[in-house]
Amino acid sequence: MLFLLSLGLWATVVFGQTCPDYNEYSQQRNHPPFSSGRFRLPAQRPIPACRTFNSSEVEDTLQRLKGKVSDPDLYRLFENTYPNTLDTAIKWKGVAANNSEEELTFVITGDINAMWLRDSANQMQSYLPLLKPSDSPTSLASLWRGVINLQARYVNTSPYCNSFQPPPESKLKREEGTGDKVFPKYSNDTVFECKYELDSLAAFLEVSDNYYNATQDSAFFEKFQWVAAVQSVLKVAKDMMTPTYADDGRVNESPYSFTRQTDRASETLLNDGLGSPVLGGTGLIRSAFRPSDDSTIFQLFIPANMMFSRYLESAANIVAALRSPPAGLEQEMRDMAASLRRAITSYGIVDSQNGRIFAYEVDGYGSRNIMDDANIPSLLSSAFFGYVDRTDEVYQNTRRLVLSSLNPYWAKGPVISSVGGPHVGPGKGWPMALIVRIFTSDDEQEIVAALQTLLSTTDGLGLIHESINAFNVSDWTRQW
Ligand SMILES: *[C@@H]1O[C@H](CO)[C@@H](O)[C@H](O)[C@H]1NC(C)=O
Ligand SMILES: *[C@@H]1O[C@H](CO)[C@@H](O)[C@H](O)[C@H]1NC(C)=O
Ligand SMILES: *[C@@H]1O[C@H](CO)[C@@H](O)[C@H](O)[C@H]1NC(C)=O
Ligand SMILES: *[C@@H]1O[C@H](CO)[C@@H](O)[C@H](O)[C@H]1NC(C)=O
Ligand SMILES: *[C@@H]1O[C@H](CO)[C@@H](O)[C@H](O)[C@H]1NC(C)=O
Repeated sequence: MLFLLSLGLWATVVFGQTCPDYNEYSQQRNHPPFSSGRFRLPAQRPIPACRTFNSSEVEDTLQRLKGKVSDPDLYRLFENTYPNTLDTAIKWKGVAANNSEEELTFVITGDINAMWLRDSANQMQSYLPLLKPSDSPTSLASLWRGVINLQARYVNTSPYCNSFQPPPESKLKREEGTGDKVFPKYSNDTVFECKYELDSLAAFLEVSDNYYNATQDSAFFEKFQWVAAVQSVLKVAKDMMTPTYADDGRVNESPYSFTRQTDRASETLLNDGLGSPVLGGTGLIRSAFRPSDDSTIFQLFIPANMMFSRYLESAANIVAALRSPPAGLEQEMRDMAASLRRAITSYGIVDSQNGRIFAYEVDGYGSRNIMDDANIPSLLSSAFFGYVDRTDEVYQNTRRLVLSSLNPYWAKGPVISSVGGPHVGPGKGWPMALIVRIFTSDDEQEIVAALQTLLSTTDGLGLIHESINAFNVSDWTRQW
C-alpha cells in the first residue's frame, strides 16, 4: 500500500505536472525507503522533478557522507534536511528586468511566500562550505549573488523592514500584507512585513561577507546596488542610535515606530509604537524586534549589536577591495564596528548568579533582561557567528547560564532540554538552539547528547521542527 501511494504521487507529477504541497507532504510518514535504524525515518525529499534548485555540489556532498555517517537514522535526517532549502524554498531565480546581468534569487523561509533578510542569509549559510567561485547559473555562487542582489534591492527600498514580497520579475503572487501602522511608510508591493530588526541588516552584511570570503569576487560588489545598500544600512544604524529624550528633556521624534492590532504582547510596541525608553549616549543601536520577530522588552538588544559589529568589520574588507569605493566608507564601517564593541563591553556585560555575563537586552538606565532565545543571533550563538571566542570567560559564564534553569526560556523535560523563547512560549525547546550548542562545544558528550535529542524528536517525520514540547514529542510547531 505504501508502494502504491508513492506510485500515485509519481503519476500526479509526471502526467499531471503538479507537485504536492510540501507543507502537506512533509507531515506524512509513509514515504519509503525507511532508514534501517530504530527510528525508521521516512524519505522526505521531494522527487527530483519537484525540487526548486538542483546543485551538484550538494548532491555530491550527500553521496560523500553516505558511508561516513554510520548511524542510518542520523544519515537520513541529514539527507532529508541538508538540501531542504534548495529542494523547497528557492521559489524563483532569474534576472532583473532592467539588467540581464543582475541575478536575483527569491528564497522563502517555509510556509509563507515571503523572503526574510535574516532567514535567507542563514539558509544560504548552510551551503557555505561548498561555495566556490563560478559564473554558471546553476552554481551555488549564482544562487548567492541572486540573494545578495535581491536583498540589496529590498534594503535600498525599505531598510526598516524584515520580510519582503516576491520581485515583480518573478510574476509570483504577492502575500496579503500584515496591515500594521508603521513609520516610515512602506509599500506592500515590495514589503510583506515591516518589523525593524537590527539583525536583518546584519544578515545582509553576513550573506555578502560569506560570498566574498569564499570567492574573493570583489568585482561583483561593484556592479549593481550593493554599495548603496551598505550606505542605507549605515544610515539606519546611525538613526537608530537616537535616544528617547533630547538633552533638554523633549521627546525625540523616533525614526521608526510600529503598532499592530493584536492579542499578543510580543507583536506590537509599547508607548504607541515607540517601545520602552532608551538612554542616550550608550553607543548601542536600538532594535524594535528580535530575530524571532517578537518585540524587544528593552531596545538595546545585545546579540544583534554583536552580530552587526562583527559583520560590519568583515564587510569593510569588501569595501576595501572595490576599485573606487566611496570616500570614507570603509573607515566609517570599521569605526562603528569598534565603537559597538566598546559599547557592548560597557553596557552589555552585567553581574549575575553566574558571574559576569552578557545581558540579552538593556536600556542604558540599568534595566536588563537576563535570558536567551533560540533564534540567531542569540547570546549562545555569539561564538558561532564569530563575535567572541568560545573560550572567553564572559561567554562561558553566559553559556552556562542560558543552558540552565537560570534562563527564563530554558525548556527542560524528558523529550528535549533546550533554549526556547516567547515566540511559541515557555516549555517548548528549539532544535535550532541544540544545533548552536553543538557548534559552540568541544565536549564530545555534550555534542552526542544534543545529536541524540535531534534524532529522537522528529516524531517519526525525519525532519527538524521549529520547537517541541519538552514533555510531549508529538506536540511541535512547524514540521520542517
Ligand atoms: C532538477 O532536476 C530534475 C531532474 O533530475 C528536473 O526534473 C527538475 O526540473 C530540475 N529542477 C530545476 C529547478 O531545475
Ligand atoms: C535598475 O533599477 C535599479 C532600481 O531602480 C537602479 O538602481 C539601477 O540603476 C537600474 N539599472 C540599470 C542598468 O538601469
Ligand atoms: C496593499 O495595500 C492596499 C492599500 O492599503 C490594500 O488595498 C491592498 O489590499 C494591499 N494588498 C495586499 C496584497 O496586501
Ligand atoms: C575567511 O574567513 C576566515 C575566518 O574569519 C578568515 O580566517 C579568512 O582569512 C577569510 N578568507 C578570506 C579569503 O577572506
Ligand atoms: C501530545 O500532543 C499531541 C499533539 O498536539 C496531542 O494530540 C496529544 O494529546 C498530546 N499528548 C498528551 C499526553 O498530552
